[in-house]
Amino acid sequence: MTLLMQAHDVRLHYPVGGGLFAKKGLVKAVDGVSFSLRAGQTLAVVGESGCGKSTLARVATLLETPTSGELMIDDKPTVSVDAAARKALRLSVQMVFQNPYGSLNPRKTVGDILQEPLVINAQGNAAARQQAARAMMAQVGLRDDQWGRYPHMFSGGQRQRIAIARALMLNPRILVADEPVSALDVSIQAQVLNLLMDLQAQYGLAYLFISHDLGVVRHIADEVMVMYCGRPVEHGPKASVFATPRHPYTRMLLAATPSVDPTQRKTHLTIKGELPSPLNPPPGCAFASRCPHATSLCIEQRPEPRLLEGHLIACHHAEVIG
Ligand SMILES: Nc1ncnc2c1ncn2[C@@H]1O[C@H](COP(=O)(O)OP(=O)(O)OP(=O)(O)O)[C@@H](O)[C@H]1O
Ligand SMILES: [Mg+2]
Repeated sequence: MTLLMQAHDVRLHYPVGGGLFAKKGLVKAVDGVSFSLRAGQTLAVVGESGCGKSTLARVATLLETPTSGELMIDDKPTVSVDAAARKALRLSVQMVFQNPYGSLNPRKTVGDILQEPLVINAQGNAAARQQAARAMMAQVGLRDDQWGRYPHMFSGGQRQRIAIARALMLNPRILVADEPVSALDVSIQAQVLNLLMDLQAQYGLAYLFISHDLGVVRHIADEVMVMYCGRPVEHGPKASVFATPRHPYTRMLLAATPSVDPTQRKTHLTIKGELPSPLNPPPGCAFASRCPHATSLCIEQRPEPRLLEGHLIACHHAEVIG
């Protein structure tokens, strides 16, 4: 399958502090992420709050430039290139956010919201734009008579359909979805996920799908990448990550998901122990302070990702634990 996006050791570090009382520091929000994304495939990124998921999403949509590393779209670099080359590639990646109400202009009708990306990018004439927007409404399950309505007149699920439709107006090949169903009632979540999967099958879209909800990930992903403190700790095919998780952190996440029954799902991952401060990450494995298997090696030396039975694992002791 066509390779659409590749991340090579991408890092995004934010300098922070340095005020009167605050110490200067560096938040390593994303710290060495690599992945490949193919047409028609979904890579799910999971992990606790603050592990760098949204930062990675902003990098993947070219909203932010990595501090180092390279992001390739269609085999073309996006970091080490000039602004014009970057802009040309930006259109092939679009984003859907968690809160569709925040991302839709409340003063515009659905018809205008859907046509806007075409207007901004000077695509087609008025008649063609309207036709494309009406066709897209039908694609995402909105009725033609809803054309003149405003976002507040829709339910949360319908608003997310509008946001998805808007993201697809420029025919992107990659969709980055940052917790796209987290704000929705569980009964509506499955409908939106099924819509995303239908659209993917029809257009061969690649999804970078960000979620803290492993029940949702189980539904939609082909591959799963588990992040901890800005780094991937385990990455592999969905079925095998769920069936035979290798990293102690992945195991904890799965154990903290009580049930695949959506009504019993937790809204937030809660597992024992604290995340280390991103401002002052420990020199060894970031997970060592919470890990039941940690040894002095883990505290001293950071494990690099390595391939183990089809999973990339960043753990010194994965064989022993597995
Ligand atoms: N602009 C910024 N300046 C400084 N630090 C930032 C900035 N954006 C994010 N961070 C920090 O980077 C880390 C990763 O944040 P990010 O929003 O990517 O996490 P997340 O995994 O999306 O979390 P959540 O599940 O809560 O959405 C956090 O420690 C956050 O405080
Ligand atoms: Mg986030």
